[in-house]
Amino acid sequence: SVEAVMESRPPVVTVMGHVDHGKTSLLDYIRRSRVASGEAGGITQHIGAYHVETPRGMVTFLDTPGHEAFTAMRARGAKATDIVILVVSADDGVMPQTIEAIHHAKAGNVPIVVAINKVDKPEAQPDRVKNELITHEVVPEEYGGETMFREVSAKTGKGIDELLEAVLLQAEVLELTSPKNTPAKGLVIEGRLDKGRGPVTTVLIQSGILRRGDMLLAGTAYGRVRAMLDENGNDIKEAGPSIPVEVLGLSDVPSAGEETIVLNDERKAREIALFRQGKFRDVKLAKQQA
Ligand code: GTP
Ligand code: NA
Ligand code: MG
Repeated sequence: SVEAVMESRPPVVTVMGHVDHGKTSLLDYIRRSRVASGEAGGITQHIGAYHVETPRGMVTFLDTPGHEAFTAMRARGAKATDIVILVVSADDGVMPQTIEAIHHAKAGNVPIVVAINKVDKPEAQPDRVKNELITHEVVPEEYGGETMFREVSAKTGKGIDELLEAVLLQAEVLELTSPKNTPAKGLVIEGRLDKGRGPVTTVLIQSGILRRGDMLLAGTAYGRVRAMLDENGNDIKEAGPSIPVEVLGLSDVPSAGEETIVLNDERKAREIALFRQGKFRDVKLAKQQA
């Protein structure tokens, strides 16, 4: 048998926390963009995926909504991730979705880096936040715990370099790798139907390299990758581990959280997709129809 050759890959970092604690603003500061101010009602409604080049290598960030209605989305974000940045507003303190995010991270055995945000506000009480988090077993290093805490402001940029350093330090400890020379595999982050372009699927590549022209099976959908776009809408020909891409060319809109794999056998991809759609009671029937 052939032994898998491993290669290092960038960390995938999910930003989680209670509604309006500043997750998108924090990422906006890191990316020097302005997503938060353009959102309807100021509420994030989907998972945003971005990759950022830092002096110490690339990092992929997933933004999640804090609104209580989006529990499933946060669970998916936690599943796709290596590290959670837990954003807690220094004026609000620990709130229900903060606690939920802690549970997701602990359930997935994902390390947390805490960002105590909005420390620019006069009413900020970062020490109160620390004490509240300790009661939820998220203990800062300075108290003998294992969790790095950083005090930040997404408004002024204070502490954000230190936060990124903490995240990269945590990533180094994890020694993240993925197998080389394997068919590309990934996870559906979200899917939507675009009027002009058909199904548009955001895929986070987890191993291998996805290329334009590959036959992709994505949950209940399949199809040849007609085009791939990065998060800025630029056309790209291939994408490797930890990179989020928008894929065009699938038969259908797959559900978020479903696995994707390159299968360079169109009939097989179609059979499995149809079987998963429940159109056939068994794979044999699906095969006859394919
Ligand atoms: P959801 O995605 O809806 O859960 O919210 P969010 O966590 O992404 O928060 P968002 O970035 O939308 O920020 C919420 C509000 O807090 C906005 O009005 C921001 O301008 C403000 N805000 C975010 N970070 C800071 C900060 O560091 N300081 C101050 N003063 N305001 C901030
Ligand atoms: Na918001
Ligand atoms: Mg947001």
